[in-house]
Amino acid sequence: MIRWMQKEDVHEVVTLYKNYMCGSFFAKLEEDFLTIIFEGLIGSSYGISYVYKDGGKISGFIMATTDTKKLFNDILKKRWWVLLRAVLVTLTRKPRHISYVIESFFYSKKTHLIDTRAELLFITIELGYRERNLSKELVKTVLAQFHERSIFKIKVTIQKGNYVVKKLLKSLEFNQVYSFSFYGKKSQIYEVDLADDYKYI
Ligand SMILES: CC(C)(COP(=O)(O)OP(=O)(O)OC[C@H]1O[C@@H](n2cnc3c(N)ncnc32)[C@H](O)[C@@H]1OP(=O)(O)O)[C@@H](O)C(=O)NCCC(=O)NCCS
Repeated sequence: MIRWMQKEDVHEVVTLYKNYMCGSFFAKLEEDFLTIIFEGLIGSSYGISYVYKDGGKISGFIMATTDTKKLFNDILKKRWWVLLRAVLVTLTRKPRHISYVIESFFYSKKTHLIDTRAELLFITIELGYRERNLSKELVKTVLAQFHERSIFKIKVTIQKGNYVVKKLLKSLEFNQVYSFSFYGKKSQIYEVDLADDYKYI
């Protein structure tokens, strides 16, 4: 069953994120950091998040935003001291991660598209639940939510080598817009336009 993400889901969602989004800088940070970001996203009017729950266990989730910059400003405004502490703890243990922290501040700029502020942020499905179209259903649920709010253009950044996610996006008519380098890895921005005859929602 797909339903809105709630605060009590965050612990399981953080575990899924840490297990399967290892390439992401966020996954290198303390769990506290992810917990605050995810709770902040659930509590923010700029956040949209769903989980897939089966037999009392969360087997997948998706997070998105109507405006990435506003979402992170909103979260920072409310909990900046806890986030700062989590980043400092990580940097004390792994000082080389400073370059990731600095680069994070340029994310909005690097992924800026003139008419598209809405963004899919994170999606993960538990290993045993993959290839059952669950991620497709989660993305479609989010797209329907954007459509309901009259938001028609949505972007997503992926790592160039993530062929499964590329297949997922292409099957939902996302098109590649451009490539750039982020956290030392080649990344690509895809975009979809839900206007008029979009047939998947
Ligand atoms: C990417 C991910 C979310 C896909 O989840 P999923 O539920 O297995 O995907 P779906 O079953 O909805 O399949 C979506 C499409 O990908 C294809 N696909 C899924 N797994 C595949 C695989 N291992 N090999 C080839 N194609 C695959 C499906 O066939 C489908 O394409 P189609 O509609 O053209 O047939 C999942 O693999 C995952 O959690 N990966 C780790 C985290 C990650 O990379 N997240 C994305 C970061 S941006």
